[in-house]
Amino acid sequence: MTSLTFLIEPGGALRGRLRVPGDKSISHRAIMFGALAEGVTTITGFLEGEDCLATLTAFRTMGVGIIGPTQGQVTVQGVGLSGLRAPTGPLDMGNSGTSMRLMAGILAGQAFDTVLTGDASLTRRPMRRVTEPLAMMGARMTATATGAAPLHLHGGQRLKGMDYALPVASAQVKSCLLLAGLYAEGTTRVTEPAPTRDHTERMLEGFGYPVQREGDRTVAVTGGGRLTATAIDVPADLSSAAFFLVGASLAPGSDLLLEHVGVNPTRTGVIDILRLMGADLQVLNPRQAGGEPVADLRVRYAPLHGVRIPEALVPLAIDEFPALFIAAACAEGVTVLAGAEELRVKESDRIQVMAEGLTALGVAAHPTADGIVIHGGTLAGGAVESHGDHRIAMSFAMAALRAAGPITIRDCANVNTSFPGFVTLARSVGLRVAESVT
Ligand code: S3P
Repeated sequence: MTSLTFLIEPGGALRGRLRVPGDKSISHRAIMFGALAEGVTTITGFLEGEDCLATLTAFRTMGVGIIGPTQGQVTVQGVGLSGLRAPTGPLDMGNSGTSMRLMAGILAGQAFDTVLTGDASLTRRPMRRVTEPLAMMGARMTATATGAAPLHLHGGQRLKGMDYALPVASAQVKSCLLLAGLYAEGTTRVTEPAPTRDHTERMLEGFGYPVQREGDRTVAVTGGGRLTATAIDVPADLSSAAFFLVGASLAPGSDLLLEHVGVNPTRTGVIDILRLMGADLQVLNPRQAGGEPVADLRVRYAPLHGVRIPEALVPLAIDEFPALFIAAACAEGVTVLAGAEELRVKESDRIQVMAEGLTALGVAAHPTADGIVIHGGTLAGGAVESHGDHRIAMSFAMAALRAAGPITIRDCANVNTSFPGFVTLARSVGLRVAESVT
C-alpha cells in the first residue's frame, strides 16, 4: 500500500485571498435531501471530497439520477421520500461518519434491507448512539457486538415518532432521528444537551418541510410530509478555513482573506476561541446564501495567548480542535480544554493523536479524559503521524509556519475526504508544503 506524506519547510507567512472547498455537512445534506425531494435540485459549490462522494454514490446505487459533480455543480433528480430502490450490495461510506449516521435514519424508513459499512476508522466508531434510538422508533437493525458498523438495516418496519433526549451533543444523531422522523407516524422531537449545528433543520425548511423549533435545544418534525426540490449554494467550509485562520494568526507577516465562508452561529466556535486567544479576525460583508449565513473572513498575524476554553463553545468548534491545539502550542501560556470527550471518537482519537504529535515536536501537551492541557512554547521540527485523520494532517501542516525545522506528516491521503486540493491551495498563499508518495 502506498502512503502519502506531507513535507513542510519551516517559516513563511500566509498572504493573499482564497476560497476553500464547499462545506462538508451542507454538501452531504444537499445530496440526501435532493434525492428524497420531488423535482430537480441543483447544487453549486458542492464539496468534491471523498466523504460527500460516498453519499452521492450511495444514492446513485439506490436509483437516484445524479449529474456531476463538475466544478462543484451537481444536479439531483429527486425520487421522493419513497422512491429509493434497494441497492445490490452493501453501501460503503468510507471514512464518513456523517454519511453513515444520517443515512441510517433514512434507510431505517425504507421498504428494503440495506447494509452500511466503511473503512477501518469508521467501523470502529460508536453507532449505538443511532441504533438505540432508531430501535425505540420501531426500526430493526443489527450492529457488531461492540455496537459498530457494518449496520444491517431491515426494511419494511413501521416507525413511530418519539420524544428523545440526546445523551451526547451530536448533530449527526439529531439529524439521523429527524430524517427517520420524516418516515414515522406522528411527531419526532429531539432535545440536545447543548446546541449543535443546525444545517438539517435549515435545509429541511429550504426544501419546504415544516420544522418546529422549541427554544435552542429542541426540534421536531412530523412524518408524512414531502420535500420539494430547490437550488442550494454551498458556502466554503469554515472547518477547512480554520486551518488557515490558525496558520495566518500564528505566522508573523500574514494577512489572508477567506472568501464566502459559512458562518452559521452553530459552527463559529473557532472564531470565538481564536479571538479569546488574541487573534485579529474580521468577519466582513455578512450575507445569506441558501438559508445559511456567509461572510468573508480576514485574518492577520497577532500574538496569541493561552486560554481556558469555555465548555459551551465545545460543540460549536468540535471539528476545529486539532487546528486550535496548534494555535495553543504557539501561544504564550497554558491552554486548557475540558468537556470534549467526543474528540476521542472522531476519525481518530484526536486528544491522544494530537498530544503525541505535539510531544514529538517538543511541546508539553497533557491529555486528560475529556480534554487536554497545552503549554505554549517553541515548536521543533520533526515527524508526526496523522493516523489517517485529515484534520490532524492539515493542522500539523500549519504548525510548520512556526517550527524551528521541517515537519514531516505521514499518512495524509485522507485529506481528500474533506479538502481535495489542500496542498496546491496552501502553497498558493505561502505554506511551504510538498507531497511525496512512498
Ligand atoms: C457533523 C457533525 C459533527 C461533526 C462532523 C459533521 C454533521 O459530528 O464532527 O464532522 O455534518 O452533522 P457529531 O454531531 O457526531 O459531533
